[in-house]
Amino acid sequence: MKSTRPVIGIIGAGQLARMMIQAAIPLNIDVRILAKNPNDSAALIAPSVEIGDPSDEKAIVSFGEKCDFITLDHELVSLAGLESLLASKVSVQPTPKTLRFAQDKLYQRKSFQAAGFPVPSFKKIQILNDFVEFGDLHDWPIAVKAITGGYDGRGVWIIDNLEAAEKLLTETQGADIGLYVEEHVKIEKELAVLVARRPSGQLLTYPVIETRQEEGICHEAIAPAQISNSIAQRAKKIGIDVAEFTEAGGIVAIELFLKSDGDILINEIATRPHNSGHFTIDGTITSQFENHLRGVMDWPLGSTTMTSKFALMINILGTSEVDPSNQLPLNHTTDTAIHLYGKIARAGRKLGHITAVGENVEAAYRSAQELMRHLQ
Ligand SMILES: Nc1ncnc2c1ncn2[C@@H]1O[C@H](COP(=O)(O)OP(=O)(O)O)[C@@H](O)[C@H]1O
Ligand SMILES: [Mg+2]
Repeated sequence: MKSTRPVIGIIGAGQLARMMIQAAIPLNIDVRILAKNPNDSAALIAPSVEIGDPSDEKAIVSFGEKCDFITLDHELVSLAGLESLLASKVSVQPTPKTLRFAQDKLYQRKSFQAAGFPVPSFKKIQILNDFVEFGDLHDWPIAVKAITGGYDGRGVWIIDNLEAAEKLLTETQGADIGLYVEEHVKIEKELAVLVARRPSGQLLTYPVIETRQEEGICHEAIAPAQISNSIAQRAKKIGIDVAEFTEAGGIVAIELFLKSDGDILINEIATRPHNSGHFTIDGTITSQFENHLRGVMDWPLGSTTMTSKFALMINILGTSEVDPSNQLPLNHTTDTAIHLYGKIARAGRKLGHITAVGENVEAAYRSAQELMRHLQ
């Protein structure tokens, strides 16, 4: 049954959906969740949960038909299901057209290159000789990526030689995983630009964020990035152009590589709130989650201005021993905040994050590290 409040259905029930629900409360939005499992992060706290598989067309359609708006927690969603919801007049953001860029990294590379965006050199892999040809043109190591389905570094392999390439090709072909290869970029810094966009055109950027990855997993993000003003302006320009080119609705995150010569390349985009933007809950006037919902509904966007000079976000990653929820009473100091996702601890799993704000980066690091010590 439809209520008089706007009804947003979120497909997928990870921590991003959970933080969207948190943002939906003051907007008085009726949020519903399609969760694969009842103990998924967002399903644990959602006012209304339907159980179903986001990759199942039928599950999406029967869930989405009861909503005014549909948005996503992650990208592994049936495009056909979204298409048929659009046909039955449900508003879907990101649209299937936008989502395709994030679902298919090779399509993204090709279309961005054709549109004139700066991207690393790349080549689709079909046979071993494709590696030989690419390796002859560009030095080893090379970066190999799964065309679809990768996240948190799963689906990215940095390999040194043809022997490793052959092994990888055999393994991935057995698992039906398509590959492409790209130059191994000598990265000075990884940056992310978050853009909030309304389908009708209004668009705002957040301050450029600097991220630190280990083995493909985001460990930390700092805002604003410690880069020159001119690099920040170029990064933002790329972000805005990508948001317009992909016709984003809600948040689109553009991951960038900054090279030591000052060049910027696009790594990949996410057509939803992004780990690099979690600091916005505590560090900006309007969080990425609120602006995502606003964008999805084509409502006026909220200010992306920071409320302190610096904000630092550190992910709480699982180890086999630590369950951070046991440490809760220890958490607060005046300039830090803790966010737990209700997930069972597993090595490398994102269980929560902390944010520290401050007048300078050093102070934010000190506060964050103090809190992290309590959690470990
Ligand atoms: N071409 C590349 N050269 C060097 N490092 C890379 C390259 N591509 C990816 N990486 C590293 O691997 C991380 C994960 O790659 P990414 O394509 O963003 O995959 P995921 O979807 O898992 O986030 C990046 O943040 C970066 O640290
Ligand atoms: Mg990435």
